Amino acid sequence: MLKVVLYVIILAAIVIGGASFYHLRRVAAKNKAEMANFDKEVKLNTDLGKVLVVYYSLTGHTKDIAEQIAVKTGADIFEIKTVETYSSPSVYMKSKKELTSKNYPELQGNLPNVADYDTIFVGGPVWWYTMAPALYSYLKVTDFGGARVVPFSTQGSNFGSFYKDFADMAQNAQILPSENFNNIDEKYKEQVSNKINAWLNKLSK
Ligand SMILES: Cc1cc2nc3c(=O)[nH]c(=O)nc-3n(C[C@H](O)[C@H](O)[C@H](O)COP(=O)(O)O)c2cc1C
Repeated sequence: MLKVVLYVIILAAIVIGGASFYHLRRVAAKNKAEMANFDKEVKLNTDLGKVLVVYYSLTGHTKDIAEQIAVKTGADIFEIKTVETYSSPSVYMKSKKELTSKNYPELQGNLPNVADYDTIFVGGPVWWYTMAPALYSYLKVTDFGGARVVPFSTQGSNFGSFYKDFADMAQNAQILPSENFNNIDEKYKEQVSNKINAWLNKLSK
């Protein structure tokens, strides 16, 4: 009996490992194909008025994109922080519970006054195929007063309903075209920069 259980466990590990390996290879191939579209330099040519970038980031991927947007547009930048921080691996269960119960985390400090800006970027990671709970917390207490709002996300490979959920939650926002960024190898740095430029150019006032 013990032998059978052991065989089942080994078989399951092989199947799961194989499926993950296949998935990662498919994502890498998709990323490579997408980045090939941004091999040629894209010059930045945009006017977004006074810009604010608001972001939440647990492990730095969204922070990196947010900082690039801020540098390219001369924006003010604001990092959303939760009072209670997440740690790994409990972040998975904790965030799932918050999303399911709609009991979103409390945020630290004062939030920026969005009325001071013409264009407001709001970004964060995809968690469980939607926005990380901290973004729900932010959108719940923010009235954009008709301002131009640009959502963005970072994710492993699948943003699910992030943008639909964002649009449903954002109060009085004129939502502009979003952009999403898969976590990607450092060797595509230039291509990612070109992708951001192409997107920012489309948003010009
Ligand atoms: C709790 C949790 C859930 C996640 N869910 C998804 C998901 O549904 N789809 C996906 O593509 N990536 C998912 N990811 C990966 C993150 O979206 C990705 O690593 C993101 O770039 C992290 O951003 P950050 O470094 O700014 O925190 C998840 C990560 C965590 C921690």
